[in-house]
Amino acid sequence: MSKVITSKNELSFKAEDLDPMPVPNKILMVKPEHFSVDYVINPHMEGNVGTVDKKLAMEQWEAVRAAFEKTVDEVVVLDGVEGLPDMVFCANQSLPYMNRQNGKEVVMSIMNSDMRKAEVPHIEEWYTSAGYEIHHLNYKKISDFEGMGDAIWHYGKRLLWGGYGFRSSMKAYEFIAETWNVPVIALKLENPSFYHLDTCFCILNEDSVLIYPEAFTKKGLALIESMFTNIIEADKHEAEELFACNATSPDGKNVVIQRGCKKVNTKLTEAGFTVHEVDTGEFLKSGGSVFCMKMMAW
Ligand code: ARG
Repeated sequence: MSKVITSKNELSFKAEDLDPMPVPNKILMVKPEHFSVDYVINPHMEGNVGTVDKKLAMEQWEAVRAAFEKTVDEVVVLDGVEGLPDMVFCANQSLPYMNRQNGKEVVMSIMNSDMRKAEVPHIEEWYTSAGYEIHHLNYKKISDFEGMGDAIWHYGKRLLWGGYGFRSSMKAYEFIAETWNVPVIALKLENPSFYHLDTCFCILNEDSVLIYPEAFTKKGLALIESMFTNIIEADKHEAEELFACNATSPDGKNVVIQRGCKKVNTKLTEAGFTVHEVDTGEFLKSGGSVFCMKMMAW
C-alpha cells in the first residue's frame, strides 16, 4: 500500500481499513519573540512588511498556547531564533511519524524559500533530543517539502494527505510512502492564496474534514469525498481572510480556530465539535494561523 495516489480510481481502501496510528499527544510551539513580516513569499504577506505588533503577537500566541493546553498532554515550547521571522510557524520544518513498533521517526523539510531554510536545523535539534530517528530528503532529487504544512496525517490512521504545487513536490511523497510503507493521497493546489494544504484542508477526526473546495482540483475533491463522510465547507471570506481551514483539532473533539469564522463555527458546533476561538490577527499578516503555529508530535 506504499504508493502515492492521485485519483479516485487508484483508491483501494476506506479509512476504516487502514492500520491505526496513535494520535500525537504533544504539541510543539516556537516562541514568537523574533516573529515579523520581513519579506513576501505568499500573497497574504503583501503590504504587511514591517507591520507586526510584536507585543500583540506575543499575547495572541500565549492565548493559542493556552487553548492547545486543553487538548493535549503537553505543549513543548522552543525559543525562536533572531533573523528567522517565520520559525514560529513550526508546522513547516518537519513531518514526524510513529512507526509500527512505536518508534519515533521524522522527515526534515527542505524549505521552498531560501529565507526559511535555516529554520530546519534548529527544529531538528529538538527531535534529536527527543530520541527521534531522523530522515533527510535528498536535495539533489527533491526540490522542496514543507512538512506538516502540506503533509497531514489522517486522524488516527497510517495514511498521509499531501499537498503539492507550491511548497512541496511529489517526489517528497514518493520518498515518504516508500520509507514508511504508508499510502499518500496527493492533492494538487492551484490557488496561490491556499499555498499550503493546511490553508484549505483541516482533518477534524477520522470521518470529518473542513475544506475550502475552490482550492482543489476536481480530482482532488473526488478523493476527499471518497475518504470522508462528513465534509464541512468554508466560504471564500472565512477561508481566505480568516484562515478558517487552518483550524486544528488535536483530539478530534475540540477545534481551535481563528476568531470570527461564524458560518464555519455554526457548522462545527452542529457536528458536535467544541469550538475555541482565538485571535491570530498578527500571524494572518504572514499567511498563517492556528494550525501552522504548531507541530503535532509524540
Ligand atoms: N510566512 C510563512 C510562509 O509563507 C507562513 C507559513 C504558514 N504555515 C503554514 N503551514 N501554512 O512560509
